[in-house]
Amino acid sequence: METTTHDAEAGHRWLASALIDKGALTPEWVPAYDAVPRHLFVPDVIWPGRAGMNRPRRRVIRSEEPEAWWEAVHRDAPIATQWDDGTYTGPGKGRTPSCSNSMPTMVFTMLAALEPLDGERALEIGTGTGWNAALLSARLGSGNVVTVEVDEETAVDARQRLHAAGHTPTTVVGDGAEGYPPGAPYDRVIATCSAGRVPPAWLRQTRPGGVIVTPWGPTYGGEAVVRLAVAGDGSASGRFVGSSAFMRLRDQRRNLPPPDAFPGAPGEGERGTTALSPEEVGGWLHMFVIGVRVPDLFCRIERTGAGTYRLWLYDTGATSRAVIGYDEPAAGYPIVQYGPRRLWDELEGAWR
Ligand SMILES: C[S@@+](CC[C@H](N)C(=O)[O-])C[C@H]1O[C@@H](n2cnc3c(N)ncnc32)[C@H](O)[C@@H]1O
Repeated sequence: METTTHDAEAGHRWLASALIDKGALTPEWVPAYDAVPRHLFVPDVIWPGRAGMNRPRRRVIRSEEPEAWWEAVHRDAPIATQWDDGTYTGPGKGRTPSCSNSMPTMVFTMLAALEPLDGERALEIGTGTGWNAALLSARLGSGNVVTVEVDEETAVDARQRLHAAGHTPTTVVGDGAEGYPPGAPYDRVIATCSAGRVPPAWLRQTRPGGVIVTPWGPTYGGEAVVRLAVAGDGSASGRFVGSSAFMRLRDQRRNLPPPDAFPGAPGEGERGTTALSPEEVGGWLHMFVIGVRVPDLFCRIERTGAGTYRLWLYDTGATSRAVIGYDEPAAGYPIVQYGPRRLWDELEGAWR
């Protein structure tokens, strides 16, 4: 029996007002929010995150730290629930979070952008903990919701939570990049993992005039949620509605060439300096814009001391690379560029 002083109802209400104040929880989603309390979809073992930070710090086990667990449930922040595709089972944390119960602001901002109408059919990619699928089911009816999860154990756990909460959407174990043809056509498609390329299957399975809401991010970095209206001729278009930071669709994870695949020995390369500090180009939005303008660019940071580093730039075709050193604020920063392309110049042009 859990002993806690946490008032679950007050926490639920507090989170609702925070989400309403931020404009994330809109009136049409309030009944679903109330019907599907977040705590029903948060596992007992979690790694609470913080808004704006993409790495949770420590593990919380509900039976050992009920206050910390409840506090995480009612905080507007993501909660990691799995690391390294489930291969990490130790007491700390693994390398990369691979499943989470998303930040509530993000959940409701995306649902608001989806704008489903009563009785419409929705496909969700990335069942995760099942919370979003439950919210969709509460809004549209379980019979109108299909959710696809690539990780079998995650899908089984989510299905149990959904059933326990009284929701029975079609839960599919599979690669969400393929959508789920037996349930098509869909009026709305929502992905809760990010794409670098919007899978063509999602366009094919959405009716003309239907809407796809998905996080999208270029190779270089940064990410944003895009809302696309499907035309019916194989194309879709729309606008970015806000910044995001989701896990990638498994088969679209960046598989980038290693540093030794690139040309340029020490002493070679074209040397120069730039007045643009590498500190200026690393923000989420800057990275997003640079990545949109130079789609095959990626980077690695090499730490050289306390607060000092080299920023390495590469192209995915492994033809060229560049390095810029950061020591302290200065009038100029040293650059060396190798190969046929001038990758720092391309980055700087995009930034400008
Ligand atoms: C941020 S979590 C989803 C959160 C979820 N909607 C919720 O309400 O808890 C991302 C999920 O996408 C899943 N995923 C990653 N690649 C996938 C793919 N190709 N197809 C289906 N699911 C995928 C991950 O396993 C993970 O569970």
